[in-house]
Amino acid sequence: MSRSRPIVLGISVLLLVLGADCSGDRASPLDDLAARSADSTVERDVPYVTTSDSVVTRMLEMAEVAPGDVVYDLGSGDGRIVITAAQRYRARGVGIEIDPVRILEAREKAQAAGVADRVTFRKKDLFEADFSDADVVTIYLLPSVNKKLRPLLFEQLDPGTHVVSHNFEMGGWAPDSTETVGPSTLYRWTIPETVPDSLTR
Ligand SMILES: C[S@@+](CC[C@H](N)C(=O)[O-])C[C@H]1O[C@@H](n2cnc3c(N)ncnc32)[C@H](O)[C@@H]1O
Repeated sequence: MSRSRPIVLGISVLLLVLGADCSGDRASPLDDLAARSADSTVERDVPYVTTSDSVVTRMLEMAEVAPGDVVYDLGSGDGRIVITAAQRYRARGVGIEIDPVRILEAREKAQAAGVADRVTFRKKDLFEADFSDADVVTIYLLPSVNKKLRPLLFEQLDPGTHVVSHNFEMGGWAPDSTETVGPSTLYRWTIPETVPDSLTR
């Protein structure tokens, strides 16, 4: 090989790298997160689908969130529900989420929204989480997951606590209010003083 070949090769590689850098097509940190999420092998009970802003707004209104309330979202995704609760109501928010990528994303978003001091995201299986200090719980899970969660809600939450679900019911527990927002149905329950026998089975 001639002595100039390695130099030519080196310059070509450098040009290629610079070309890639200058193309303007580089992924943003959030694109990187999304890509990693797609590869994630996390075992979820429910896939990641976000709640639209208009539905988040109505869920928090139905939950009657007040300033200083502690709002939990079980399966918090990118954190939008608790971040909105902190922004609009000066609530304190806690997101419980099994996917570490979503936790990172939610923390970034809370920082950008200026509410990082009032919201916390815990990487945890929601069935193993302590949410007993909640004033409000929101969920966007699945009917079977809601039903499995029901005994934990009764066990951990004080009477009077509101639980609001996006789209799915909770077995035979009749909601005290239901609303439709576009294609979504929202359900609200209030934890009773005494849990009826029919709901303990
Ligand atoms: C339908 S998404 C809802 C996201 C967010 N709450 C919203 O409404 O935009 C459900 C979320 O629950 C998370 N998840 C699924 N199984 C879980 C589990 N066992 N513990 C905690 N999070 C879970 C998923 O990773 C996903 O982010």
